[in-house]
Order: sequence, then C-alpha cells, then structure tokens
Amino acid sequence: MGFFSRKSLNSKKEKTLAKGKVLAFLNQKGGVGKTTMAFNTAHALAARGHKVLCLDMDPQANLSLLCGAEDLQGPSIHQLLINSIRELKPLHAAAMIHDVIIKGERVDLLPSGQELSGFELSVAGISMPRQLILKNFLELNKLLDIYDYIVIDGPPTLGLLVVNIMCAAHGLLVPFRPDEFSRKGLSHFYEVLGNIEDMGVTETPKVLAHIPNLVDLRRRQEGEDLERIQGELEEEFGTGSVTEPFINRAPLVRSQAERKSVYDFQSKDFVALQDQFNQIAGKISKWKEETYS
Ligand SMILES: Nc1ncnc2c1ncn2[C@@H]1O[C@H](COP(=O)(O)OP(=O)(O)OP(=O)(O)O)[C@@H](O)[C@H]1O
Ligand SMILES: [Mg+2]
Repeated sequence: MGFFSRKSLNSKKEKTLAKGKVLAFLNQKGGVGKTTMAFNTAHALAARGHKVLCLDMDPQANLSLLCGAEDLQGPSIHQLLINSIRELKPLHAAAMIHDVIIKGERVDLLPSGQELSGFELSVAGISMPRQLILKNFLELNKLLDIYDYIVIDGPPTLGLLVVNIMCAAHGLLVPFRPDEFSRKGLSHFYEVLGNIEDMGVTETPKVLAHIPNLVDLRRRQEGEDLERIQGELEEEFGTGSVTEPFINRAPLVRSQAERKSVYDFQSKDFVALQDQFNQIAGKISKWKEETYS
C-alpha cells in the first residue's frame, strides 16, 4: 500500500431511486481552491443542462458570496440542519427550506453563515448519530429528487462538519497544492475517510478527482513535488484520478471579483479554463452514468 493508504474507499455499483448525486469539494488545507472549483464546476454542470444546487457548508460563506448572496441576514443551512433534528427543533425558530434556498439564473444556492461555526456545539448533546445530520436533512427534504447535483463547498477543517459532508456525499473532489505539507494533509484526510468507512453507517463516497491547483510549473521543485504526489495518488486511486493541473490564472481571479463563473465570459482568455472545468464536469457525468444507471 502507498502513502495514501486506505481500504476500499470506492463505493460499489448501486441502484437508487433518487436521481441526484452529492458532490463535495474538500481539503482541510485552506486556500487550495475548494470554493473556486465548486463554483465553476457547478456552472459547468449547469451548462450541460443539469439542475444544480450549490450548498455552502463553510462558515466563511465564500461560495454564498460568489453566488451573489451578499449581506445575508436570514436563516442559513445552519438553521435548517438544526431544525431537522427532532429533539432540537422545539428550541429554535422555524426555518422553511423554500425560504432559505436562493434561486439563481443558472444554479440555486443554500447559503451558509457565520453561525455554522457553532454547529458542533449546537448538536453536542443529541442522541441521533451526529455524523448523519446532513445526509438525513437532504433525504428528509427530498433534495436529490429535485436536483441532479448538489455541489458542496467544505470548510478548511476536518471536524464534524466535514465528517457530515463525507457521510452525505457520493463523490469527492480534492483540490490541492502540490507541496510536502499537502501530501501529509491528504494522508490525514484519507485516514478520516477510512474511519468513516470503518464505522459502516453509510456508503463511503468515491474519490472522483484530485485537482492540482495554483501550480507554478516554472519552479522545478513544484514540478517534482507534483509528479511524486501524482504518482502516489494514482497508485492508490488509479490512473486518471489526478486531473490536469490548474496554474495560477489571472482570469479566474477576475471572474471571482465580478462574482461570475468562467462561462460568463466570451473572451479567449477564458477558453482554457472553460475547457478544464468542462473536463471535470465530463468526468462527473461519466461516473454518474456508469455507476448509477
Ligand atoms: N487557479 C487559480 N488561479 C488564480 N487564483 C486562484 C486559483 N485558484 C484559486 N485562486 C484564488 O486563490 C484564493 C483561494 O481560493 P479558494 O477560496 O477557492 O480556496 P479555498 O480552498 O476555498 O479556501 P478556504 O479553505 O479558505 O475556504 C482565492 O482568492 C481564489 O480566487
Ligand atoms: Mg473556500
């Protein structure tokens, strides 16, 4: 077994009634591109005709901001999750899901808020399995009957929020910076995923892609680090489990400053980025087709 050893993390072929699938962009390291990738992949999937919900599970609420939800005063995913827990419901103000979902032109949003940082504490005393709160919430509200894909942006931690995301997700996408620190971080990440598999309370999500990001191939060390990590990941997760690297791209920064996806621009500066996100969306569609139909 290689450095990123885990047992059999790939989910089995299964038939399921709900049409939708949950994708999550995760890495406990900050600033690796989780939000950027989640947002643009959601738009790439929408451009292919899929109905997509962006679910912001990070208290920093960066995805909510990118989706245009500024100065959110109303209830967020936090209240919905708390409300979905029978024993906590009477203690909190009611929040209706249809009042919280923000309908977008291309993708919808379930926004986050600062209060989500208190999630772990809020659910500390409950008797139901705390790692399944998000999964149960999605099922209770039949969101996978409505959406083809729910795209989750995770926080840069490995706490209860991320465990909930791992338990609710069918597919994981892992952006990373190719350096020695991220190699260690990824190894820890897979330990947590392995623990979830050992608990056996839910299907383990399939790791769909590792996405090298902010790569500077002009720096020799970075090229070497990327090659080594790529080799180790492919040994464990199979050839093709690491996507083409994203380099540092000014157009990506510009699109985010304007709260737009790379598909909102016609200029040729965006073609390469659009192609890269199309490839990720294509990989996701192919996996869904092969695994669930
Ligand atoms: N390929 C890229 N080229 C240029 N800038 C990028 C690229 N990818 C991400 N960025 C920028 O890097 C910063 C961090 O990206 P992002 O917010 O997506 O990371 P994150 O993993 O979600 O961070 P956090 O862990 O804090 O949530 C952002 O300012 C984003 O615009
Ligand atoms: Mg983020």
